[in-house]
Amino acid sequence: MNPKTQAARLALDYVKNNMILGLGSGSTAEIFIELLGIRVTGGLDIKGIPTSRRSAEVAIESGIELLSIEHADRIDLTVDGADEIGPDFALIKGGGGCLLREKIIANASDLMVVIADESKLVDTLGAFALPVEVDRFGFSITAKKVFDALRVGGTQRPAVVLREDKHSGKPFITDGGHYILDCACGAIPNPAKTAAKVCAVPGVIEHGLFIDLARVVIIGGEIGAEILER
Ligand code: 5RP
Repeated sequence: MNPKTQAARLALDYVKNNMILGLGSGSTAEIFIELLGIRVTGGLDIKGIPTSRRSAEVAIESGIELLSIEHADRIDLTVDGADEIGPDFALIKGGGGCLLREKIIANASDLMVVIADESKLVDTLGAFALPVEVDRFGFSITAKKVFDALRVGGTQRPAVVLREDKHSGKPFITDGGHYILDCACGAIPNPAKTAAKVCAVPGVIEHGLFIDLARVVIIGGEIGAEILER
């Protein structure tokens, strides 16, 4: 079994009957959604709130009943992937461009469980370019201000580029209708300070630093998975 599947399978242990679940995005989260669908077919009663259009499609194909976030009075658990997992479970997310909805849903959940293979564990965040979701209006000015904010936040030489859609070559548009700036940082020595500085730039909708949100990380390997808690 591949490491992502090992992690996704162990995350099912956190799911209980009648839960409302945040359904993450990305390849690892999709495996979790498919496995969850098998449990639902077997009688598990849950409802899912997807963090992306793609996750909604996978959930529907897997037989999972969806709930609009506007109709949810609680979210018990969110299971999602990550691009990097650093000290204190600080994360970089948004490689798939879903960071805004992922963060809204993770922040509204009683528990966030992150599932990943061990390549995602890092000592310092930042080798993966930090995605920053921005309004389309004035995005090139916003990009310059994000560059400045990253410098003030402690990143030595950031490089900020507008994400392109791999197929069309046009700017990538998020589910919420925004652009993504991918910010190559190399290292983010102070994620909390960086997050605060980037957040303060007008035009920034959200950034991919998830700080103090994940309580459980499940790391999959070839022959099993390990649960890390804080
Ligand atoms: C999407 C995300 C994903 O969780 C992240 O990119 C990890 O994806 P994968 O499981 O495919 O490695 O943040 O916005």
